[in-house]
Amino acid sequence: MKRSIPELQHSEQALVMVTAYDYPGGRHAQAAGVDLILVGDSLGNVVLGYDSTAPVTLGDMIHHARAVRRGAPDTFMVVDLPFGTYHTGTQDAMRAAVKVIQETGADAVKMEGATTEILQVVDNLTRNGIPVMGHVGLMPQTATAQGGLRVQGKDDDTARRTLEGAVALEAAGAFAVVLEAIPARLAKLISDRLHVPTIGIGAGVNCDGQVLVTHDLLGVYEGEDKKIARRYAEIGKLSREAIEQYAADVRARAFPTRENSFVMKDDVLDKLY
Ligand code: KIV
Ligand code: NA
Repeated sequence: MKRSIPELQHSEQALVMVTAYDYPGGRHAQAAGVDLILVGDSLGNVVLGYDSTAPVTLGDMIHHARAVRRGAPDTFMVVDLPFGTYHTGTQDAMRAAVKVIQETGADAVKMEGATTEILQVVDNLTRNGIPVMGHVGLMPQTATAQGGLRVQGKDDDTARRTLEGAVALEAAGAFAVVLEAIPARLAKLISDRLHVPTIGIGAGVNCDGQVLVTHDLLGVYEGEDKKIARRYAEIGKLSREAIEQYAADVRARAFPTRENSFVMKDDVLDKLY
């Protein structure tokens, strides 16, 4: 059954969140019993083949989130607001969030950052009944401005900004905050400081929950090893080998066999000759 926000916030166990981008992804995540599904804009990287999340549109997010929802009707689903859809004022952000909620059945939206403008958006949305998950540390949508995809919060300046950002997001009404790619001790400090749950990725074991990009945990891309992830399967290798085997069988005329074929009566066939 779908967990409510208070249930998620008071969970004794570590919260489990994975990303999903389509119907089978939603089905697998729900069948596995995860607490939350994130339709992340990592969609751009792992499904659409872009080299950043910046090109992902609101339409892309809605298209994919609808499919996830069909596969996971009973799991708490968070949908990322993509780059540019919440940066042009609280009205635009509200419109984008309402569209996501209405068209996908999302339970909450997520957005990156804790600038004054973003905090205003979080405050506005949550006051109007739209649950918001925050996201600080490494923020892929604006990674270029952060100096690339790198760990944040190692130095005094970015550590303080990350801590203050998380605290401000909670004060603005965020029901949970993702901590991405920050030192484990900073993540622990933030998790101790906040009342709402922290959900870490590349943020050590002392967060209230963990999130991973499913394609990383499934090993969808052969030869790609990320420090922050653990591969629980080699789906990419299995997929390639299965297609290779299929190709070999077709070329050897070993597929299809009689079992895969339909029969007809001899007399019906005879009439055609
Ligand atoms: O888009 C995404 O998958 C995310 C998670 C990595 C937190 O934002
Ligand atoms: Na994201």
